[in-house]
Formats: sequence, C-alpha cells, structure tokens
Amino acid sequence: MSDSDEDGPPALSADSLAALQEFYNESRTDCIKCLSEQFSVGEVEEDWRMSQFWYTEETATQLAEEVVREAGEGGRVVCVSAPSVYQKLKQGVVDGSDRVSAVVLEFDRRFASYGDDFVFYDYKQPLSLPPSLAPQSFDVVLADPPYLSEECLSKVAQTIQYLSKGKVLLCTGAMMEKLAKELLGVKKCRFLPQHNRNLSNEFRCFVNYPSVLLRSGSSS
Ligand SMILES: C[S@@+](CC[C@H](N)C(=O)[O-])C[C@H]1O[C@@H](n2cnc3c(N)ncnc32)[C@H](O)[C@@H]1O
Repeated sequence: MSDSDEDGPPALSADSLAALQEFYNESRTDCIKCLSEQFSVGEVEEDWRMSQFWYTEETATQLAEEVVREAGEGGRVVCVSAPSVYQKLKQGVVDGSDRVSAVVLEFDRRFASYGDDFVFYDYKQPLSLPPSLAPQSFDVVLADPPYLSEECLSKVAQTIQYLSKGKVLLCTGAMMEKLAKELLGVKKCRFLPQHNRNLSNEFRCFVNYPSVLLRSGSSS
C-alpha cells in the first residue's frame, strides 16, 4: 500500500469534482422546481361547483407568512378549506415555513395527492375528523368556509374551536362579520385578501389575536 492510500480516502480529480458539483447543482434546481410546481396555487384548477376561488400568489404568500410568524418554531398549522395557503407553506418560498408543520382539510379529493397532509373534510359534519387530529392541537387555524351562510360558518366554527389552541384566522365575506365575532370572537383586519377572479362580495380576514394584518391596509 502506498503512503497516499494510508493518508485517507482517494482524492477525486478536479474534473470529477466539477462534474459532481454540477450534478448536485442540477439535482437541487430540479428539486426546487419540482416543489414549486407540485405546490403551486392553481395546480388544482378552480371548480366553481365547489365554491373554489383561489387567492392571488401575493395573498397566499402573505397569509402563509402570517401563520408561520404566529405558529412559531415547530408550530402546527391547519388550513381548513384554504388549500392555497397550505400549498404556499409547502412550496419552500416562505421564510421559516420549513419550521412549521401543516395539514389541509379539504372536501375536494384532488388534494389527496398531498398524502398524509390531506384530510377529507365536509363542513356538514364538522367534528367528523380522524383521531390524528387531536382536540386543541393546532397553534394556528386558518379557515375559509365555502359558503357565506349562517349554517356554513356555524359548522366551520365548531371545527375551528375543536382544533384550535387559540389563534384563529378566518377569511370570509365582510357580511359575515357580526356572526364571526359572536362565534369566534374575531375582529376584522385592514388587510385585504385578493383572489385571482373578482368576487361579487366584499371579502375580508378576521383574527382573534393581535395580528399585523389588523393594521396593514392592503395586500400590496
Ligand atoms: C371559498 S374557497 C376558499 C379557498 C381559498 N380562497 C384558497 O385560495 O385556498 C372554499 C373552499 O371550500 C372547499 N369546499 C367546498 N365544499 C366544501 C364542503 N362541503 N366542506 C368543506 N369544504 C368545502 C372548496 O374546495 C374550497 O377549497
């Protein structure tokens, strides 16, 4: 055995190292691109029959930033009928999103492609949830109920109260303000969420904790 064999592992040539580095860079870029596509808002097309109106990229990002900030290190977030925020959390584009875990509760089974993070949810059976979703186990519950009706908000509020450790971010029509306050003790934010298509009803966010969204007037 030569001296160099005993000194450590065999050294790679400069060419091999360069090739390895290139391979690593390309795999990393592919991986980021793949995450970005798999979790892009709009990857699942809107279906109006399920009252689906996706947030703009900017709104989904701002809501994801808000839940990351509020959930804290190692926090748990649940997106109830709000898949765009879940997608934004998973896309790897929001600072700190890798330090929280997220689950999406959805009626649309196309989101089942997200594996164990997906939980089938029908607001008509608000407490029909799997044992993996323990009561009061989420640091932030973000919900965007499918319909602007008392029946729908009341039932979604039961789900929110069951899952929440405390912080609630509700996105719904401005006309639901009074009922939302009665059911969940939330206040209307100045922050204005935007959708990819214009909605006929004024749409707002509501929170039950001292959020920066209460003060920020627009999403731009
Ligand atoms: C107004 S959209 C909110 C989506 C949100 N703006 C976003 O971009 O993620 C309502 C959501 O409720 C879901 N939904 C429809 N029917 C439902 C039901 N019966 N129970 C629970 N969720 C339902 C839709 O699939 C949709 O994601």
